[in-house]
Amino acid sequence: MDMIELLEKRLLPHELKHIKGSFDIIGDVAVVEIPDELSHRERDIVEALLELNPRIKTVYNKGSARKGAYRLRDFKLIYGEEKETEHKEHGFRVRLDVRKVYFSPREATERQRIAKQVKANEIVMVMFAGAGPYALAIAKTQPRVRKVYAVEMNPDAYKYMAENVRINKAGNKIVPVMGDVGAECEKYFGKCDRVVMPLPKGAYEYLKLAAKCLKAKGGTIHYYFWSSEDGVDDIKEIVEVDFQSFRKKIKSLKITKVSEYSPKVLKFCMDIKI
Ligand SMILES: C[S@@+](CC[C@H](N)C(=O)[O-])C[C@H]1O[C@@H](n2cnc3c(N)ncnc32)[C@H](O)[C@@H]1O
Repeated sequence: MDMIELLEKRLLPHELKHIKGSFDIIGDVAVVEIPDELSHRERDIVEALLELNPRIKTVYNKGSARKGAYRLRDFKLIYGEEKETEHKEHGFRVRLDVRKVYFSPREATERQRIAKQVKANEIVMVMFAGAGPYALAIAKTQPRVRKVYAVEMNPDAYKYMAENVRINKAGNKIVPVMGDVGAECEKYFGKCDRVVMPLPKGAYEYLKLAAKCLKAKGGTIHYYFWSSEDGVDDIKEIVEVDFQSFRKKIKSLKITKVSEYSPKVLKFCMDIKI
């Protein structure tokens, strides 16, 4: 359900025209985007959310776009109290505080798409791991994975990832690593079968490191990026040239549309097999 469907019985047609974006429910916390023109309707919007999902205890209105290296945003509390939450996804739990850690429930399908490709005995590197949802999806979907190394530099996200590994009893599979991918990955050069790079704003800088993490016999990199529909071919060409310069031969390259970032910018994933 999107915001328009949620509110069509409560708002007037001219008010509905101001709606943009959708809402997210993360455990018992809801996140909405209320444009200034509808700030007088805050109460109605909260009531509509509570009617849809009576479990909701907290509602935040987005106060800014995502920003900074940790990809966080400002929030304004409009109902309940500021709190952490616990999201359930395909058999695992993710505890987090949306104010301190990046998380998007909309990426559950994409996480499953990646997790289902992981084979028994693989060693996986998840760069930019956040509170651990990719690592958890992999460990849950492929319990015979050998190890998942998950690197994150936001101390709050790392703390939640360590807690999520514990509450999901995944400690024998997932190794949370606190620090900058640029500094931490060297230890894993030549050791991995797969590298996941879920940082569309900036993963490009780390593509060479990802290639170095793969075993000499090769492996797969899942590289996320933003682009317009028209720009995808150019980005594909740039990546192909990069891999030539890394002296790595691309066996296959598949691009999947993941989500809409803004009306003209989409998030894509490039699955690069070396
Ligand atoms: C877009 S979020 C994705 C988080 C998580 N993978 C998810 O899907 O929920 C990117 C994450 O990468 C982290 N990050 C950004 N640059 C980093 C770097 N150079 N080294 C380690 N972590 C980084 C941010 O703190 C943030 O938690």
